[in-house]
Amino acid sequence: MKVAVLGFGTVGQGVYEMLQHANGLEPGPVLVRPGKDDAPFKVTDIEAVTGDPAVDAVVEVLGGTEPARSWTEAALRAGKHVVTANKALVAAHGPELAAVAREQGVAFLFSAACGGGVPFLHNLALAAQSDRILSVGGILNGTTNYMLDAMQSRGADYAAVLKDAQTLGYAEADPSADVSGLDALRKIMLACAVAFEKLPTEGLYTEGIEDLTPADVQSFRQMDLTCRLVARGGIGPRGAVFAFVEPTLVPASAAECAVKDNYNLARYEAERAGDIVLMGQGAGRFPTASAVLRDLSDVLCGQRVMMPAGCVRVAADGEGCGHPYYVRLPAELTGQLPVDRIQKDGDTARVVTSSVTVKWMHDTAARLRAQGAKLFFAGIEG
Ligand code: HSE
Repeated sequence: MKVAVLGFGTVGQGVYEMLQHANGLEPGPVLVRPGKDDAPFKVTDIEAVTGDPAVDAVVEVLGGTEPARSWTEAALRAGKHVVTANKALVAAHGPELAAVAREQGVAFLFSAACGGGVPFLHNLALAAQSDRILSVGGILNGTTNYMLDAMQSRGADYAAVLKDAQTLGYAEADPSADVSGLDALRKIMLACAVAFEKLPTEGLYTEGIEDLTPADVQSFRQMDLTCRLVARGGIGPRGAVFAFVEPTLVPASAAECAVKDNYNLARYEAERAGDIVLMGQGAGRFPTASAVLRDLSDVLCGQRVMMPAGCVRVAADGEGCGHPYYVRLPAELTGQLPVDRIQKDGDTARVVTSSVTVKWMHDTAARLRAQGAKLFFAGIEG
């Protein structure tokens, strides 16, 4: 199967290299933006890919939604299988692109868009065929895990470790998507679509790690807890999907605590299988390229469309789940929280709240920040 590659950045280069040695696959043309066509295998025109009868499949690793969406659709309409690592694309346009793939009888797979090298969506999609998935989630962003691990294990500086993560090829072109939690949110949206046939697009709550300070890290140490950026999705007690991303404090006994460097831990709970946990490198050239190659091998084995046919967009229910929170905020504002425990340090207070809903905590933090308050919060799992 001859494979064209759209995009020749960190992941595109890894895919191209792996294609040279993969069973049943061979590299085709690489589409790059004009001005970067400095090698014979590179082209700058999508028609050079869609109009080439020798090309059987297309890998889309451009990132962003345009021109990725229109080029992906053009490839599908030209009868090419498409494998993508682009979570922004699938979160925004997945159902429509999957419908085009079905219409054309070609594959549309996106394992590499969630979990990097961890074979998560592939297994989740298989499990959802025969078992009822109850929840999905885990550590789904390699950049922030690398940063949090370095800050907590060796007191590294936030700006310095973010730069390291960029140099190592873990971060997005715009790393604010990593540190704000948006990248992990897009990934949990895809996991919900595959698990529940529901793509949540509203009512989503995201908190990143931008407001984390060394003093917060010191407090976590005193509580014997470790901070990870965790994404969760599931079906709440009212039967609606919930999905959120937030810093989360976990005890030493939690599997998430052992996740180091750029690793991800992705899990699902199914009614019959119980809890399934998968771990591996969640970001970087070859971990992500290897997930793309596995999807291409799945295409050779006859796999078609990963997004379920009945998948619909829904509003998520932020009241469908809750837990206690750690909140660091100005001491004068503690009356705004249901305080379970409190520690004051001059003008600053560190509070452990009683259990509140995800919606309540994220809405309250947004309201206090709108009034000028500087704060950080993290869910507590235990
Ligand atoms: N920037 C992403 C991460 C890349 O750090 O997880 C893999 O999706």
